[in-house]
Amino acid sequence: MIRMSVDSLQPGMIVGQAVKDENEKVLLNRNVELTDRYIQSLKNRSIFSIYIQDGNTDDILPDESISGVVRESTIRNMRKVFNSINGIKKEIKDESEKTMREHISSGRFQDTFKNTPGFEKLSGDMIRIVNELVNIPTIMLGMNSLKTYNDYIYLHSTDVAITSIMIGRKIGLSMKRLAELGKGCLMMDIGNIFIPESIIEKPGKLTSEEFKIIKEHPVVGYEILKEVQGMGVLAPHVAFQHHEKQDGTGYPRGISGNNSLLINEEPKTIHLYASIAAVADVFDSLSSDKSYRKAFPPEKVIGLMRKLGGKHFNREVLKVFLSITPLYPEGCTIRIVRGKFKNFIGVVEKINPENLSKPVIRLILNSERKPIKPKSIDIGEEKNIRIESILL
Ligand SMILES: [Fe+2]
Repeated sequence: MIRMSVDSLQPGMIVGQAVKDENEKVLLNRNVELTDRYIQSLKNRSIFSIYIQDGNTDDILPDESISGVVRESTIRNMRKVFNSINGIKKEIKDESEKTMREHISSGRFQDTFKNTPGFEKLSGDMIRIVNELVNIPTIMLGMNSLKTYNDYIYLHSTDVAITSIMIGRKIGLSMKRLAELGKGCLMMDIGNIFIPESIIEKPGKLTSEEFKIIKEHPVVGYEILKEVQGMGVLAPHVAFQHHEKQDGTGYPRGISGNNSLLINEEPKTIHLYASIAAVADVFDSLSSDKSYRKAFPPEKVIGLMRKLGGKHFNREVLKVFLSITPLYPEGCTIRIVRGKFKNFIGVVEKINPENLSKPVIRLILNSERKPIKPKSIDIGEEKNIRIESILL
């Protein structure tokens, strides 16, 4: 399959991966032939790219880290939890003028959070996710999921949990710890329910007043999660600390990190779980289309993140992350910019675990962008070839 910009879609092209709307209802099913009307409806929904079948790369699947069944169950249960909390939010709104945070910390609502339906099932999903992830290669092979405006938070949180578990696994955390870390990642932005959407979705710079409101979401999330039965102590701390930075310039408390892989339980130091979640959160956020901007190319994301080691990110966690993250994931479209086959277009077919920046590419278009008989080349074996990612 090939990921294509919605601007380049043509009637007659065949959808490779279902596109769903805000209620998980299928908007465009796999195998559907595109029409002008379908393409326009994707544009109207601010969807920037989708997967297309091209007959030459359909065996290359963009995302295989966890099974579809487990992914769907996780998203369904996460939606249930978010809906329950949303219901509680509406109740709070009808009450007196106390601030949202005062309400959330009050005994009455803390009791409600305790019994929020859906959390228990989500814990079950997380155990299944961990079980699947510990049985795949240690390298993150594929692309992150394509997200639409309305399901962004669910897909993003799931991708962050997967990336975090992969990092945690490489560090050598136990299955129990991986599940704890994953649960924290799934729920870390639950406090966003209490932040106006206009602020969360605002493109560009926030005013200092708006940023002050955004900074509340880790605290609100923590206040909710620490009450939930079976949540434990550490998962709520992932929510609490995922925007803290190693140098103490993050929020909400401005605590510092130890830039190491040691789990220390010191109260005012960023916990290892939160340091992992911070890396995974920024990685997935930059790699995803948002309603107001397109995803950054994978090599740009990695380049940006490298620069933040030791300051924003835990230096050692970042090192582990870079050791399992290919520069060009499987399914990524690339252009050859130097050497043999210059300007040919291909799709990453296979990652070379020995050299994450030199994958096997399947060329499908020549320098005039005309289809060719697909040809696989191993970038690691060809001298002088350089590639860059593109979106057709
Ligand atoms: Fe957040």
